[in-house]
Amino acid sequence: MSNLRPTLHQLRVFEAVARLGSYTRAAEELHLTQPTISVQMRELADTVGLPLLETRGRHTLPTPVGEALLAAARGMFDQWAAFEMLVSQTRGLQRGRLRLAAVTTAEYFLPGLLAPYAQAHPGIEVQLVVENRDAIVRRLELDQDDLAVMMLPPDHLPLAAEPFMDNPLVALAPADHPLARERRIPLAALAGEGLLVRERGSGTRMATEEHFAAHGLRLRARMELGSNEAIKHAVAAGLGLAVLSAYTLGPDPAREGLAVLPVEGLPIRREWRLVHREGRVLSPAAQAFLAAVRSAAPRLRARAPGPAPRARTPRGS
Ligand code: PGA
Repeated sequence: MSNLRPTLHQLRVFEAVARLGSYTRAAEELHLTQPTISVQMRELADTVGLPLLETRGRHTLPTPVGEALLAAARGMFDQWAAFEMLVSQTRGLQRGRLRLAAVTTAEYFLPGLLAPYAQAHPGIEVQLVVENRDAIVRRLELDQDDLAVMMLPPDHLPLAAEPFMDNPLVALAPADHPLARERRIPLAALAGEGLLVRERGSGTRMATEEHFAAHGLRLRARMELGSNEAIKHAVAAGLGLAVLSAYTLGPDPAREGLAVLPVEGLPIRREWRLVHREGRVLSPAAQAFLAAVRSAAPRLRARAPGPAPRARTPRGS
């Protein structure tokens, strides 16, 4: 048996003939002439020393030995395809580019996810665009990036959106605000205060508006500020209260002049997602980032940011 020497090309032709049941159709699929196919199949049968194909009615079908060869050939093709994939991934990871887009709130944790990735793949150039949700949605519409990091993927696009980490949105007050001493604050009381809010187009603002609306409340904006940091500083300066992702907070909000309020129904529970257009073929660099985020996900989920808010949501609300 060890002296059998079929070529990969002969096996591909054989597989096509056996699958399609016809020399003519195999010739069409492989863009070869029918005589070429016949010659290849004759040589293959000579090499094996047994008939591999037989004509039954109008079909050309494998003999029992042909069936066994078909199974062996398909197994080899699968293994070869896996090998080719490995080669192209390894090549693609030695040099390449990862284009990421992220909503502004993700800038607080994304560098921490990128650091081990960049160390593991020094040949990959990382480009990170940071904008608010609306701008990231426009980039998704144009399919400009390999992957986007966001909380609220839009409904109007065909997307793959993989959640990887919680994103609790919490209510913030100046550390010395009277509400910061309360044990439980109704959501209506927070709504009554009037809030410092992000610009229209921000996902944080959208999630907050949706949450208030779901409780029959309207978000009243006392002031509109175009960044999470501006809002944090404005809250600390006593300009008002706000709802922001807990990821915007450092380990000790009191040192930033802030308190997380125990508001009923808060934190608003959302998730961070890695998003791309459905059907987009991800580059090796993007696949490796996706894999890195997937493997970091359990650790990330276990490490919730900011202090735990004290208010308990009454059951059923
Ligand atoms: P943004 O981010 O408020 O910075 O837009 C939140 C999101 O959309 O995920």
